[in-house]
Amino acid sequence: ENIYVGVDLGGTAIKVGICDEQGKLLHTYEGPTEVDKGVDTVIDNIEKYVRQIVEESPYSWDRLAGVGAGVAGFTNVREGIVILAPNVGFRDVPIRSILEERLGKPVKIDNDANVAALGEAWAGAGAGVENCVCYTLGTGVGGGIIINGKIYQGFSGMAGELGHVSIVPDLEAIKCGCGKMGCLETVSSATGIIRMAKDAVERGDHTSLSTVPVIMAKDVFDAAKAGDEVALRIVHRAAFYLGKSLAAVTAVLNPQAYIIGGGVSKAGNILFDEVRSVFASYTPEPLQEGVSIVPATLGNDAGIVGAAGLLIRS
Ligand code: BGC
Ligand code: NA
Ligand code: ZN
Repeated sequence: ENIYVGVDLGGTAIKVGICDEQGKLLHTYEGPTEVDKGVDTVIDNIEKYVRQIVEESPYSWDRLAGVGAGVAGFTNVREGIVILAPNVGFRDVPIRSILEERLGKPVKIDNDANVAALGEAWAGAGAGVENCVCYTLGTGVGGGIIINGKIYQGFSGMAGELGHVSIVPDLEAIKCGCGKMGCLETVSSATGIIRMAKDAVERGDHTSLSTVPVIMAKDVFDAAKAGDEVALRIVHRAAFYLGKSLAAVTAVLNPQAYIIGGGVSKAGNILFDEVRSVFASYTPEPLQEGVSIVPATLGNDAGIVGAAGLLIRS
């Protein structure tokens, strides 16, 4: 039987995994991305880790039918080019052809969140659901749209950038990493939550977060769960705009399920209850019928499994 390698290319780590044809993860390996050393080193590292994982596995290189990679940034899937991925240090990198040449295997690439969505739809929370939309709430906010079991690519292969839907009203909006104002990513990412927490502390709001030396998103969730009003307000703000985003997407696409993953989804019920309630408030009733909003189940493996899935399921 063939094996496939999935690559999850993020800002700090490159995760690779061997999958079988059914999406079962057989082996994983993780190494540093080394963004600071430049594009060439990052590409060398991808090649190195892919060769290494197959070498250390019981499978021969000949059985490797292809390599898929998810990249955290704007990717032109048709051309196989990473247009802009600030966290990985890539701009206009024709990663597909480079890797095909180096590895001598078919390569497919896509956006990290599109790939995670495919992973969840194939072997995770969306198994058996034909139409679903995934949000990955991490450093950024990623999105992936699955229509009839496949990633929806759009005109230039960049559909599903749900983190860059501008949704915060101008008076409250701040500038996003993409250069535009009020993106969902500015409030519903871990980065956004940390920023809101720091702002509150600096303003002198009464909160237990003021005693935390370096605030992480998890500190905000923990404080919120312990009844800290300021922390709870921050989590609810992140959930509010996410819920409104789900309502908007529902009116456009009518998906059956929303799958929410990434570090921020670990906040659990304080986040999900609010997202569901906002969704219910802003979505016309007939469109709410039968729609579920659930946590992702593959965790950190969604990207690897989905990346392998690019060769099998798309
Ligand atoms: C990027 C997306 C990516 C997401 C999650 C965003 O900032 O623009 O392309 O999918 O972060 O990594
Ligand atoms: Na996407
Ligand atoms: Zn943006």
